[in-house]
Amino acid sequence: MPEDSEAIVKTAIFPVAGLGTRFLPATKATPKELLPVIDTPLIQYAIDEARDAGVERIVFVSHPSKSAIERHVQDDADLRERGKARLARELKQAAIDEDLHDVVFVMQDEPLGLGHAVLCARDNVLPGPVAVILPDDLIVGSKECLSEMIAAYPNCDSGHMVATIDVARDDVASYGILSVLARNGRVIKANGMVEKPDPAAAPSKSAVVGRYVLDAAIFDALARQTPGVGGEIQQTDAIATQICTTGLSGFAFSGQRFDCGSKQGMLAAGLHLARQDPAFDAVLDEFVAGQSSSTAA
Ligand code: UTP
Repeated sequence: MPEDSEAIVKTAIFPVAGLGTRFLPATKATPKELLPVIDTPLIQYAIDEARDAGVERIVFVSHPSKSAIERHVQDDADLRERGKARLARELKQAAIDEDLHDVVFVMQDEPLGLGHAVLCARDNVLPGPVAVILPDDLIVGSKECLSEMIAAYPNCDSGHMVATIDVARDDVASYGILSVLARNGRVIKANGMVEKPDPAAAPSKSAVVGRYVLDAAIFDALARQTPGVGGEIQQTDAIATQICTTGLSGFAFSGQRFDCGSKQGMLAAGLHLARQDPAFDAVLDEFVAGQSSSTAA
């Protein structure tokens, strides 16, 4: 990796143009990324993570039908005018401060795949590697995932770094899976990556989830990439074509990831966060007590 300022991750790309069909009818009029875990929309967790990582610019790749996302990221002066000062203050903290961060919206008019969405950001990124955050993968823990990855990136000796979790053998068919060459702490050196392998043929149980730090060379690979699974331009396919030239590492982050693109993952995330907040103790205790009395009956 170059050790100059060109190696610093200055841009985070948020692909948010997908249709969110697994969450219909909730996503008929509300973008999936604005669905809340308790009271905070998924996109807010992702924005906070990108800010914590110190990026200068956030590029949202959105769809014209999802303009509510633009409204969410802006400061709401209206509430302040209506005298709701405390609420307005909280919302201001959540909104992106455009003095500190550039915010750019680009449109992906057709959902041609995650890889295509990232390619749509190409003309708006700052020089150097880019981060990609999929807001429907919620990652919580004492350290923010993207910050951990960016700290490890200069020493990983690869241009592309992907966040990984260990999954059960039977679950590998739902993920991109790394072919592992070596492990050094949280960094996993990979020499291959296969999309959704058969469990019997999977090269490992290290599965790729929605955080990436990618060398800017990724845009050339994406521009060349032909449609893959589901007829979509797949980001994993483009990364895989550059393993020999750019290099690929996995990063086994310390936090816990919830697949909030699925109903089960969204429910699990809500329960996980509720369990950490005493304000929900009574409701959780009541639910558990109800469960045990109905089991006993
Ligand atoms: P998903 O694979 O979860 O697809 O996208 P989706 O359309 O959002 O949801 P389902 O499967 O229909 O329920 C993962 C991420 O990539 C973005 C999505 O917005 C989500 O953040 N994406 C996907 C795009 O921005 N464009 C695309 O063409 C596809």
